[in-house]
Amino acid sequence: MRIRIVLACLVIASGAFSADKRQEGAQEKNAFHCNSLIGRGVNLGNALEAPEEGKWGVRLEEEYFDLIAGAGFTSVRIPVRWSEHADVTAPYTIDNAFLARVDWAIKQALSRKLVAIVNIHHYEEIVKAPVEQKERFLALWKQIADHYRDYPNTLYFELLNEPCKKLTNELWNEYADEAIRLIRKSNPTRGIIVGPTSWNNISELKNLKLPRDDKNLIVTFHYYQPFKFTHQGASWVGRQSNAWLGTTWTGTEKQRQDIISHLEQAIQWANENQLPLFMGEFGAYGKADMASRAKWTAFVRSEAEKRGISWAYWEFCAGFGVYDSTQGKWRRELLNSLIPENGTN
Ligand code: BGC
Repeated sequence: MRIRIVLACLVIASGAFSADKRQEGAQEKNAFHCNSLIGRGVNLGNALEAPEEGKWGVRLEEEYFDLIAGAGFTSVRIPVRWSEHADVTAPYTIDNAFLARVDWAIKQALSRKLVAIVNIHHYEEIVKAPVEQKERFLALWKQIADHYRDYPNTLYFELLNEPCKKLTNELWNEYADEAIRLIRKSNPTRGIIVGPTSWNNISELKNLKLPRDDKNLIVTFHYYQPFKFTHQGASWVGRQSNAWLGTTWTGTEKQRQDIISHLEQAIQWANENQLPLFMGEFGAYGKADMASRAKWTAFVRSEAEKRGISWAYWEFCAGFGVYDSTQGKWRRELLNSLIPENGTN
């Protein structure tokens, strides 16, 4: 426990300078504090955002939360496929048993002093037909927000994972604005996380327009560059990814500068808009070689921290896993890249 508190303080301290600088002129904004509490997180991926929990090989276990908290992480992002567990006609009621399962996961995290981030993930219908789905999207948030209104403020909401395709900037800015205002009726100060289109791409931050009067917004982006390295052999991005197998990341000057310039682009936007940044996903798939994965992960993580960017590694125990659930042990190289204070034992 003491180790965890010390680590949490280290994380907050490591990001403190840049975050404080950005707070000038935005004194009453709580969002920077909320973001520092996220600190170092991990995604509980492939569980509750699979079509059914377990179908993608992961069922959440109580032990996972002990492991995560014990290793020094300070938050978990819990991706949730609500759309698969809610009626398709008004009033779009969420299935009670599924809601109870999400409650369980959130409580496991909060009871171990981990910040819990719950999102809407893999809502594939909305990126294909946004106009048709808008009412349902807002109805889901109305139910989620009402249900969690009395939960501790260390539960944060993230509006939608990776808006993309037909969910254009114009539509997304409108839907996000409406969702935020709706959530605020029941959760006036809860941390709300919002990211840009094009799969939460840094390059689209400039097109993200958020309500100026809300003091508890955190902006998220996902980082998987170079994509041919992080997604080599990843079947879900198409057959071409097999041709990328063998791509390494050794940390050449050019490779490092590319990452730095992407993060600088993000931070410049955040400074101009006085908003804190959360790198909600980053990771390299298990088909890349471990030495490259560990180096890339450590570099991206430390460059993010230098800039006061909180983060959540993608992900805990599936294809990118920092934890090997079949062997019941951490992948030490990855864990050390994420939580260096953890040592090499
Ligand atoms: C998706 C995952 C995918 C990961 C990396 C996430 O946003 O939900 O299915 O594995 O990105 O591509």
